Amino acid sequence: MESGTLSIGILTSGGDCPGLNAAIRGVAKAALGMGKARIVGIENGYRGLIEGRARVLGSAELSGILTRGGTILGASREKPFESRDGDTLSDAAFGLDKVGLIKENYRRLGLDCLVVLGGNGTQTTAARLEEEGLRIVGLPKTIDNDIFGTELSFGFHSAVAVATEAIDRLHSTASSHNRVMVIELMGHKAGWLSLFAGIAGGGDVILIPEIPYEPAAIAAHIRRRAAEGKSFSIVVVAEGALSADEARLDKKERKRLRSAMPFPSIGYRVASEIEAATGAESRVTVLGYLQRGGVPSPYDRLLATQFGAAAADMIARREFGRMVALRGGAMSSVPLAEVSGKTRRVPEGHELLRTARAVGTCLGDA
Ligand code: F6P
Repeated sequence: MESGTLSIGILTSGGDCPGLNAAIRGVAKAALGMGKARIVGIENGYRGLIEGRARVLGSAELSGILTRGGTILGASREKPFESRDGDTLSDAAFGLDKVGLIKENYRRLGLDCLVVLGGNGTQTTAARLEEEGLRIVGLPKTIDNDIFGTELSFGFHSAVAVATEAIDRLHSTASSHNRVMVIELMGHKAGWLSLFAGIAGGGDVILIPEIPYEPAAIAAHIRRRAAEGKSFSIVVVAEGALSADEARLDKKERKRLRSAMPFPSIGYRVASEIEAATGAESRVTVLGYLQRGGVPSPYDRLLATQFGAAAADMIARREFGRMVALRGGAMSSVPLAEVSGKTRRVPEGHELLRTARAVGTCLGDA
C-alpha cells in the first residue's frame, strides 16, 4: 500500500435499516475526497472481520447506493465477546478465539481504523475492541432510536414514516367496520418509534415499554370514546410494552408467564384484553420488518450522509474511540465508553408524552 494512504474499514452490524448505504457512501466519499484513502468494506458485520471477508469499495461500488435500502455489505448480529454465537459462524471460525481473529484480520487487512455502523450492541462491542487496541469510529444506526448519547440515529425517521402510513391506512378500515385496530411496532426496550408514529398517526392509545399499562385504563378510554360516538379506536403498541402486573415481576417470572399465554406477541394480548373488557371487535396488525425495509426517507439520507462525513473528519483528526452524534441539532461525538451498555429510553415527563396526553391520547396509565 502506498505510504500515507489511510486504510479505512467499514462494517454494518445489527438490524438493517434504510440509510445504511447512505452512511457508507458518506464516510467513503468524504474520506476519498480528502485524498490518500482506501475504503475496505467488511462483509456481514463483525462476522466478516472474524472470517476475514472484505473487499475494497471504489467509486463503482459507491455509485447509486444513496437511496438503496439495506446494506451492500450485509449485516449480522455477531457478538464476538459473547461465547454463544448470535449468528452461525463458518466451521473454520466456530468456537475459535473470535476477538483474536478480529485483531489478526484487522492487521492482515492493513486497516488504520474501523468505522462501525450499528445500534447499542454494535457500539458496545466497538468500545471493547477499542480497549483491545483497534482504532474505531461509531455511527448510530437503528430504527429504535434508543442509542445513548445522540438525539437521533439514522433509520428512525424512515421507520416512523412507514409506521405512520400504516396507521393512516388502519383508520379507514377501523371506521368502516367499527373496530379497534391494534398495530404492533418494533422497539423492544424503548418506545420512541411507537410514540412518534402514534402521535403522527393519531393513535388513540399508545403503549410503550417505559410506561407499564393498566388494561382497565385502556378499556375505560375506549368506552369513553364509544360514549362520545367514536365507533372505532386505533391502539399503537411497542413490541416491548408490558402490563403493570408484569412490570412488578422479575424478568424470569415475566418470561414464564408470557410463554404460558396463547398470544404470539403483545399486540394480540392487548387486543384480547380490550375485546374481553369492552366487547369491541378487535384486530391486530404486526408491522414487523416493513419498518426496516425500503428506501431511506430524505431526512435519513441527509442524517446518514452528515454522520458519514463527520466520521471522515474525525478520522482525519485521528479522533478514535468515539461515536458520531447529533447533539443540539449539530454534529458532535461521544466516547464509545459512555455509549456502551446503555439504552436511551423515553424519559418520564418527556415533552412528547405531554403532547400525547394534551391531545387526549391514552398512554395506558390513566
Ligand atoms: O434493532 C432493531 C430491531 O428492528 C428491533 O426493533 C427488533 O426487535 C429487532 O431489531 C429484530 O431483530 P432481528 O432482525 O434479529 O429479528
